[in-house]
Order: sequence, then C-alpha cells, then structure tokens
Amino acid sequence: MNTTMEQTLLQKAKDARAFSQAKYSHFKVGAALLTDANEIITGCNVESSSYSLTICAERVALTKALSEGKTKFKAIAIAAKDGEFCPPCGACRQLLFDYAPDLEIILTNGNQQQHYTIKELLPHAFEDSQLG
Ligand code: THU
Repeated sequence: MNTTMEQTLLQKAKDARAFSQAKYSHFKVGAALLTDANEIITGCNVESSSYSLTICAERVALTKALSEGKTKFKAIAIAAKDGEFCPPCGACRQLLFDYAPDLEIILTNGNQQQHYTIKELLPHAFEDSQLG
C-alpha cells in the first residue's frame, strides 16, 4: 500500500475512535478497513452492560462492510490509546482471517506504526476448508 493510502487509513481509524461506545471500559478503539476497491469502512467498539455482548471496533468495521456487499479486503488500521499499540483480540483475528486471509494489519500508537499480516497474528488458523 502506498504511503498516502496508509496515512488516510490511519487517520480514518483515529477519527472512528471518537464514536467509540466504551462507557464500561473507557478504552476507545477505532478501526478502518480498506476494500479491494480502495473504499474505507470504519468501526468503533460498542460495549454492552452485559459485558460479553461487547463488539470490537474491528468486527464492527468488518460486519458493516460485509452487510453492504463489500467482501474483499486489503488492510485494516487500528487505533486506540495514544502511546499504545492495540493488537486485535483472538475473536477478531479469527473473523478477519475467515474473510481476508491475506489481510495486512496496521497498528498505530498515535505516531508510530507496526505492520503485520493476519497469518502472522493467527498462525495455524482454523479455516473453512476443514469443514469439509
Ligand atoms: N477492543 C477493541 O475494540 N478492539 C481490540 O482490538 C481490543 C479490544 C475493545 C473491546 C472493549 O470495548 C474494550 O476494547 C476493552 O476490551
């Protein structure tokens, strides 16, 4: 991905964090998912008083995109607290892998970036081919 697109994606993830519904944890997360057509779909975490119903920013972005018929993805940027990188949780890793096994993952701590692939973050993944 070129630098301009990466900067745009990072900024969208940071902007999406402003909409975070995190009244229980106060941990605000924003995500920006890049489609193969270079569209950007954002998400933020949405928490519930029944804590386990909370949805992470990454899964909000992914399900928003899928529900709009966007099914091919190149990258996702994730922004949380300034000064800290926020790697995706295990549940998000599985869902991201299911829909985008070659996804690039860009974490930002506000001014520095870390780059991963979903395969690096979820080695030996369970995958749909195993369902027969
Ligand atoms: N969270 C995310 O949205 N994404 C992550 O990658 C890690 C965790 C959210 C879930 C919950 O609302 C809060 O952060 C604390 O776990």
